[in-house]
Amino acid sequence: MAGNTWIIANWKSNKNIAEALDWVSKVGPQIPKNENLKVVVCPTFTCLEEVKKAITVSNFPLMVGSQDLSPYSEGSYTGEEAGRILKDVIELSLLGHSERRKNFGETDEMVSNKVKQALDNNIIPLVCVQDENVSVPEGCKLVAYEPVWAIGSGTPDTPENDQQIAQVLKSKYGDIEVLCGGSVNSGNIKSFVSQPDISGALIGGASLNADEFIKILKEL
Ligand code: 13P
Repeated sequence: MAGNTWIIANWKSNKNIAEALDWVSKVGPQIPKNENLKVVVCPTFTCLEEVKKAITVSNFPLMVGSQDLSPYSEGSYTGEEAGRILKDVIELSLLGHSERRKNFGETDEMVSNKVKQALDNNIIPLVCVQDENVSVPEGCKLVAYEPVWAIGSGTPDTPENDQQIAQVLKSKYGDIEVLCGGSVNSGNIKSFVSQPDISGALIGGASLNADEFIKILKEL
């Protein structure tokens, strides 16, 4: 494995605490200990603390990420989760997912403010872009290219196209790592991570089932 490979589970709005802990207990022991392999789970907010505790107690090589983060610092922002508070339990935050842009009116400016909050609190921002023209905020070094039509459709983009987009993004933004996403599973993960400019995958549906996620890790 040359360079980092990021395998990131985005559970979206799925799994309660019991289901989350069951997944961690099955997947945790199966993650290879390799400093270049960065496995991250992004549960719902209510599961973050319990998941973090379970990982810490068993010393699993698994990082915890949130699926969002407030564009503001802490204060009078009802319903928001501020970086300074989240950093107790997360190392990474998924920002600008197309589902947030589409369903919750998230704009490039909000994503940029979220990235700033993440960086101010030593949280790794992972920004999702839907095509090569979506802007990557300054300071963000980890980007996931997820075309909207590939998400949850069972039809991923081709590895060759993802590789091309990764090259374009790298030529625009320099020293970044690019992940791919949208219908990635154990049957196709290898074809993506074998591309020279793809440093891993952001996985939704196929990350929910522990056995399928373990299969993905075994394919690397
Ligand atoms: P699927 O893997 O379910 O297509 O979802 C991709 C995604 O949106 C991950 O953030």
